[in-house]
Amino acid sequence: MLTLVTGTTGQVGRRFVPRLLAQAGPQERVRVLVRDAARGERFAELGAEVVLGDLRDEAVLGKAVAGVDAVVNVAASFRGVPDDEAWAVNRDAALDLGRAALASGVQRFVQVSTGLVYGLGRGRPLTEDDESRPGGGMWGAYPAAKAEAERGLLALAGLDVRIGRLAFVYGEGDPHLAQSLRWAGSWAAGQRLQMVHHADVAQGLLRLLHAPGVAGRSYNIADDAPVTAVELHQLNGVDVPAALYERTDPEPFLQMTSTDRIRRELGYRPVYPSVYAARAAGAL
Ligand SMILES: NC(=O)c1ccc[n+]([C@@H]2O[C@H](COP(=O)([O-])OP(=O)(O)OC[C@H]3O[C@@H](n4cnc5c(N)ncnc54)[C@H](OP(=O)(O)O)[C@@H]3O)[C@@H](O)[C@H]2O)c1
Repeated sequence: MLTLVTGTTGQVGRRFVPRLLAQAGPQERVRVLVRDAARGERFAELGAEVVLGDLRDEAVLGKAVAGVDAVVNVAASFRGVPDDEAWAVNRDAALDLGRAALASGVQRFVQVSTGLVYGLGRGRPLTEDDESRPGGGMWGAYPAAKAEAERGLLALAGLDVRIGRLAFVYGEGDPHLAQSLRWAGSWAAGQRLQMVHHADVAQGLLRLLHAPGVAGRSYNIADDAPVTAVELHQLNGVDVPAALYERTDPEPFLQMTSTDRIRRELGYRPVYPSVYAARAAGAL
């Protein structure tokens, strides 16, 4: 079995690939798509095949999927990029990759998505059957493009697509936990962020990749204990601004997702059920 992984130079992919390789049997191989040859060397050293190129280049997609059995599409463009790039990578290139995979006989396609696709809150934890409702403070080209990519991929008849919707990812030196203050600094004191540690992102994606009989299913991947804006400041060793206590949380369940489905159907159990468990284990 040959698995193609995209986005491996990013925060999620660089931590996922070593775990994918670590659990691979003797017949299982991994190929990565990277844009920069020098940044691909690390993956070659780990034992992966490296294909060079940009996801928006259809000729590259053909090379990347040739002979592949499964794809894990981790790549995305969302960190401070213009909207046209967010659409081009997160929707158009993801769909082109899905079509290339289908044409090449790929059997499984895991699409890495985001809990932001739900948009507006619904006064309770969001389940995978909830439709995307555009809007809310975090809505924009990125979640909109990811939501359309999900729909487009699931509509590709003949391709076994599985969607993993990640919460806010942190851990293992990822600066994301510190960056959370960019948002949490303007929240109400009790407003919560749902997170997931890199170890559990990898666990979730591996379960999606290997599970039989879940074609067309979507799964939320998150931990058990969303943290408040106050705790995010404390975790980062930053004084809590007084203004947080003057605001009220407009929607306590905004972007809170249920993990019931992935627990029940795929046996997912967070290694780090909370950021405090990860901190105690030295895994921040
Ligand atoms: N981090 C989170 O909190 C979070 C939360 C929810 C969902 N997600 C999802 O998780 C996935 C990974 O996120 P991340 O945090 O690892 O993002 P990241 O650190 O920004 O990494 C993005 C990856 O995608 C690659 N990429 C971007 N545009 C590309 C293109 N045109 N062609 C080829 N590769 C391209 C980047 O390659 P270069 O290094 O060459 O730029 C990089 O490897 C994404 O699908 C994202 O939507 C992440």
